[in-house]
Amino acid sequence: MNIAIIGTGNVGGALASAWAAKGHHIYLGVQDLNQFKGKVLLKNQHTQACSIAEAVAKAEVILIAIPPQAIFDVIEQMGDITGKTIIDATNAVRVVPDPYKTVYHCLADKTKADVVKCFNSTGFENMLNPIYNGQGIDMFMAGDSDKAKATVSSLASDAGFGSCIDFGKDDKVGLLEKFALSWINLAIMQGHGRNMAFKVVRR
Ligand SMILES: NC(=O)c1ccc[n+]([C@@H]2O[C@H](COP(=O)([O-])OP(=O)(O)OC[C@H]3O[C@@H](n4cnc5c(N)ncnc54)[C@H](OP(=O)(O)O)[C@@H]3O)[C@@H](O)[C@H]2O)c1
Repeated sequence: MNIAIIGTGNVGGALASAWAAKGHHIYLGVQDLNQFKGKVLLKNQHTQACSIAEAVAKAEVILIAIPPQAIFDVIEQMGDITGKTIIDATNAVRVVPDPYKTVYHCLADKTKADVVKCFNSTGFENMLNPIYNGQGIDMFMAGDSDKAKATVSSLASDAGFGSCIDFGKDDKVGLLEKFALSWINLAIMQGHGRNMAFKVVRR
């Protein structure tokens, strides 16, 4: 699959590496080709850097892993993304992309892409290594398009996660950001540390 990574920092870098290792073609969409966070990703196989517009044009799937307020800049540069799958991995923790509550809601309103909220609910260290005690931790996703969710679920599996559990449609996107805040609360405020993750168990 051809995947554009917009935001090549902690989250974008971890997922770009995991997907490149699985044979996906990775287009890092960057603001400045000479200087961007995650330049070391160019050492990965099947990985190249280009402008945001070029990366998006080449990809079927676009990962958004930027500060939420940067989404307006990025939308202007992306061009036509009708029918593409966009994964929103952001969390509007400190800054909200006003007037929208989340980047998902901004993308759903301003573009004709199929948006899925995913890869927001755990720390980037767990994206670099999602294996605990020999098992992949779970990932969670929300959004309106079942087709796009099937694609994202398969990419979560490629990144080493256990299940990619459907959190619901767009009315559950806010809840999925709160779920991310719950991880942040436990890991950071309550002092459990960032080597901690969620897995659903059943009997
Ligand atoms: N850190 C985590 O553990 C974690 C976990 C889950 C979700 N998240 C969410 O994921 C998002 C990214 O977090 P991160 O920790 O990966 O951030 P980060 O390491 O600071 O990386 C941010 C990336 O966004 C790019 N960027 C900033 N402004 C931009 C703009 N106007 N246009 C295009 N690209 C722009 C930066 O580009 P340059 O390289 O040019 O500076 C950089 O590559 C945030 O919304 C965060 O809440 C983070």
